[in-house]
Amino acid sequence: MTTESTESTEPAEPAESDEITVTDEAVASLRAAADPRLRELLTALIRHLHAFARETRLTGQEWERAIGFLTATGQTCTDTRQEFILLSDVLGLSMLVEALAGRRAPGATESTVLGPFHMTASPERPLGASIDLLGGGEPCVVEGRVVSTAGIPLPGARVDVWQADGHGFYDVQQPDVQPPGNGRGLFTADGEGRFWFRTCVPSPYPIPTDGPVGALLKATGRHPYRPAHIHFIASADGHAPLTTHIFVAGGDYLDSDAVFAVRQSLVQDFTRVDDPALAREFGVPNPFRRARFDLVLEPS
Ligand code: BEZ
Ligand code: FE
Repeated sequence: MTTESTESTEPAEPAESDEITVTDEAVASLRAAADPRLRELLTALIRHLHAFARETRLTGQEWERAIGFLTATGQTCTDTRQEFILLSDVLGLSMLVEALAGRRAPGATESTVLGPFHMTASPERPLGASIDLLGGGEPCVVEGRVVSTAGIPLPGARVDVWQADGHGFYDVQQPDVQPPGNGRGLFTADGEGRFWFRTCVPSPYPIPTDGPVGALLKATGRHPYRPAHIHFIASADGHAPLTTHIFVAGGDYLDSDAVFAVRQSLVQDFTRVDDPALAREFGVPNPFRRARFDLVLEPS
């Protein structure tokens, strides 16, 4: 009598990896990741990316084009240009991350996006200094206090400021035209938490459109403009640093910012002042514009 062997001599079949199972397999491949947060983030990323591909029936050609776009985005980055931040900004992702982080204490100044132009250190300047090294724009005095949510002034708070010039360009975009540090200043608030500096009234400007992100905006029929604004990072001991802007009230694009970063509470009057004595006090030509607001930090 012969007995038939049930053992197969065939090599084991590789695990099936098809449209359905590949997602679970890719997620399962993360099981040895030591960092649980990394595992959580990558798991969700894989699941959402796969759902996106299924929902849109993404083709190989389209994915290749997307990879070409991302490659070009990376290749456009330099020491002074951050195309990936720009991409995140125009997709609304930067503002979403900001909003998720910014569940702030009542009364604290709202935060908004950092943007891609805070890549060089702002020069330290004394209170009252001008950050407009070239002149030519509409003169303006910006004043405020750094205070805590309890209303207590924060002496010695640091106020880092940057803005585009009157033509809508940052110094790093025009190294042959603007001196480094134009439109930037790092100020230390006085004993009562006050800061003030001179500048020109900022104007709306287009975000850089000569790279892949610009091509994306064009392909989707979007304008590239941001409403006029000045950037701030305020910090003080014992308080969470605040990254924000102030926007010029009444300006264009407040309701269609290319990067979705406007918050109504950040829109400030840049009041017209005609007062020769005050102009002399501030060291600006008369008439001038004046913006006054507090930066309110929450305790950390
Ligand atoms: C900016 O305000 O500097 C900025 C923010 C997001 C994208 C581009 C520019
Ligand atoms: Fe800006």
